[in-house]
Amino acid sequence: MTNKVATLNLGDQQVDLPVVSGTVGPDVIDIRKLYAQTDCFTFDPGFTSTASCESQLTYIDGDEGVLLHRGYSIEELSEESSFMEVSYLLLNGELPSKQELDDFSYTISRHTMLHEQLATFYRGFRRDAHPMAIMCGVVGALSAFYHDSTDIADPVQRKIASHRLIAKMPTIAAMAYKYSVGQPFIYPDNKLSYTGNFLRMTFGVPAEEYEVIPAVEQALDRIFILHADHEQNASTSTVRLAGSSGANPFACIAAGIACLWGPAHGGANEAALNMLREIGTPDKIPHYIERAKDKNDPFRLMGFGHRVYKNYDPRATVMQKTVREVLTALKVNDPIFEVAMQLEEMALNDPYFIEKKLFPNVDFYSGIILSAIGFPTTMFTVLFALARTVGWVAQWNEMISDPGQKIGRPRQLYTGPTARPYVPVSKR
Ligand code: SDX
Repeated sequence: MTNKVATLNLGDQQVDLPVVSGTVGPDVIDIRKLYAQTDCFTFDPGFTSTASCESQLTYIDGDEGVLLHRGYSIEELSEESSFMEVSYLLLNGELPSKQELDDFSYTISRHTMLHEQLATFYRGFRRDAHPMAIMCGVVGALSAFYHDSTDIADPVQRKIASHRLIAKMPTIAAMAYKYSVGQPFIYPDNKLSYTGNFLRMTFGVPAEEYEVIPAVEQALDRIFILHADHEQNASTSTVRLAGSSGANPFACIAAGIACLWGPAHGGANEAALNMLREIGTPDKIPHYIERAKDKNDPFRLMGFGHRVYKNYDPRATVMQKTVREVLTALKVNDPIFEVAMQLEEMALNDPYFIEKKLFPNVDFYSGIILSAIGFPTTMFTVLFALARTVGWVAQWNEMISDPGQKIGRPRQLYTGPTARPYVPVSKR
């Protein structure tokens, strides 16, 4: 806590507001008493200058391109760690011992199965339903099946619900894919790693043994690490706001999935690959760059730009390296990768993108890898949701266990009609 204050002069009123420092990053001006003292709200649509909460999970420095999870850099975690270990770190605050990691992985693996009746949910969807629509529906329905872990006041139930969500997302995601291609669901195999099990449930078939390719398993596990958590982004804020009303964790995560689906957020990975395929060849890039700069054209470079990063998204750096590794391991020569790299180079040397500090973000390269592994573009945001579930769950737990937590209820600047008498239709 600092003794610094921010003094606000409002007409003849002067208000001192406490300034609070974190361990790193911008100070905050505590305005919780502002309305009571001044009868004024602050106004910040899109929350460009608003800290919605205190958190100890993830730190981002957008100017320096820094991303830390519980103090560990995304570069080191993506190189040295595993998604299960990063999940443990986000949930518990410290890196696990070998025994702690083994116990955690064992617990998660024992929650990978879905209640058998949930399989019938899929049959209510059209085969061509977008898998994210299925994810919203099935994850929301989990609260109808797991009543014994919906009491958010009970830390034991919160822990079970957290483990169930992290463990069942791969199963639900794989089933969404299987349903879309008309293949039978594959049950989890607890002998495999978290990511290997997901690959087998997605691409395995009953008729033959599925062999997990280590290079693919490692690349996908790294992609999950890169997507695990990201401070107070739109979908995490959605989960927190839903949770602040006391909604059960399954409903909160379903709300996060719905928000993530938007092309300005998690849906950008699907949109970015579709854009690269539409561009098709490097000679078409200048036309699309001009469209992205044209104020009258709604087209934007998908996978570019970020509310926080005004430097290179550190996840995009790791992702680009992983593209090379996967294409080499799978002996895939995808011309779209060349289009992506040339597009990046041209954009980063264009005054418009330089002036607006627009860099590739996590979604720019991920689709190239996922496509090379065999996922259809409609599954890209599903994989983002699968990985982000641990971040949503960790943020939800942090909020619920904060004794000072209140329901989130923003106010507004009202510019509508003032009070006026009703006029009967006969007189209108
Ligand atoms: C994710 O918040 C998170 O942390 C999200 C995420 C996570 O891990 O949770 O990192 C994941 O969502 C990454 C972002 C994925 N979205 C995209 O790639 C979609 C394309 N990008 C944009 O739509 C945009 O950059 C946003 C939505 C990501 C950020 O939007 P902001 O911060 O509200 O910025 P803005 O829209 O006000 O843009 C600022 C200026 C504008 O120009 P002016 O009106 O000032 O003249 O930059 C321009 C924009 O037109 N601009 C772009 C652009 N992004 C911003 N111009 C062309 N192409 C783009 N991609």
